[in-house]
Amino acid sequence: MQKFVITGGRPLIGDVNIAGAKNAVLKQMAAATLTAEPVTLRNVPKISDVTTLREVMGDIGFELRRPDGHALEIVAREAPWPFIPLEAALKIRASFILLGPMLARFGRVILPNPGGDKIGRRPVDFHVDAMERMGATIVHRNGYYFASAPPDGLRGAEVTFPVVSVMGTENAVMAATLARGTTVIDNAALEPEVDDLIVMLQSMGARIARTGERRIEVEGVDTLRGTEHRVLGDRLEAETFAIAAATTHGDVTLHGIEPAHLGAFLEVCERTGVVVETDAATATVRVRGDATRSYRPIDIRTDPWPGFATDYQAPLTVLLTQAEGVSNVHETIFEDRLDHVRHLRRMGANIEVVDERRARITGPTSLHGAEVEIADLRAGATLVLAALVASGTSVISGIEHVDRGYEQIEAKLVAIGARINRIEA
Ligand code: EPZ
Repeated sequence: MQKFVITGGRPLIGDVNIAGAKNAVLKQMAAATLTAEPVTLRNVPKISDVTTLREVMGDIGFELRRPDGHALEIVAREAPWPFIPLEAALKIRASFILLGPMLARFGRVILPNPGGDKIGRRPVDFHVDAMERMGATIVHRNGYYFASAPPDGLRGAEVTFPVVSVMGTENAVMAATLARGTTVIDNAALEPEVDDLIVMLQSMGARIARTGERRIEVEGVDTLRGTEHRVLGDRLEAETFAIAAATTHGDVTLHGIEPAHLGAFLEVCERTGVVVETDAATATVRVRGDATRSYRPIDIRTDPWPGFATDYQAPLTVLLTQAEGVSNVHETIFEDRLDHVRHLRRMGANIEVVDERRARITGPTSLHGAEVEIADLRAGATLVLAALVASGTSVISGIEHVDRGYEQIEAKLVAIGARINRIEA
């Protein structure tokens, strides 16, 4: 088991290359199974979620290889074992994104209900409902979904999501690309990662269009072709490093991130007083903290894109502990995503948990080092950020959660002046 040992209190200064987005590449790996032709993904992050999904797809019978550090070649000729074991799904919920493509291309798949995780119950009923509307038969038995398509394949349908679902939208879009007829998806997600998937599918010959504010129409085709696609930069990693720069009063330039993909986070920087310069032409974002003045408190509510992303919420809390006054956070997407608060309080933060979805943060407070344990990916990044601001040394365990979504986080932090070590515990 590994831990991070971090000594905080030093301004972070320098350049960071942002990796490809976890929440895009996992779906694009699944999309590659919609064709028998080779698919090459570029800017693929070196994160454990990619490795885990690679193993899952390899076990199904697909060929996957990494020709170089940040590329992935996938050839999904056939699927002799269309089965995803529970232990794999427990490691990576996103394996459920194989439901749509496997049903559309191979007509059957057995996969477990991935169940909830640390941030909420996370049911998959919308995904199942969408597939059933397209003609699939899905039987839930012993924790597994046994899914099969009609002999002549899925058919186009009307799908409306009760609440916006990112992976629900992505599963429905991918299933619809090979369905007979047209599928209309309403209340669809608008996240940049969904658009990046659509661009990839269109380059494979899929007929997909956004035809309304939250409407996507997909006209099914018989087959899709291979492609080469570059994964967009990870806005969640970028937000994490931006917070690190701001809270340590440093000066960091992020490379490989489309400023527009940071969305509502840029507006939050403005409201709190974090100095940000963006350059879309060079895909760079420069973030500077100013030790001479304190940050302004704000009220935040998480929402689907273009609202403030739920994945930004926990890391932003660290900045708000340094703001002059009272900030309020309202988490509307997941019912249990305030776990980081108890650890931040142990580091000296003044945070009141109002209810399971609301927290009130009073600042500024001086954070101090502590021994803390990570329970999930974004809470993990949050504790690393807090340790970088804190006086003294912190020891952080459960860092395998951070490795799921951040490529070499400690190497990138050391390169901008952080005192962080990964130790074998
Ligand atoms: C994606 O999860 C991301 N994961 C999450 O990022 C992100 O937090 C989330 O979207 C919201 O932006 C990946 O892309 C791999 P949802 P997803 O379906 O698609 C409810 C990270 O840290 N719902 O948009 O699973 C659900 O419970 C992760 O990188 C149902 O009720 O999220 C939630 O309350 C964490 N039934 C809401 O919808 C369903 O069938 C939105 O969830 C599906 C969802």
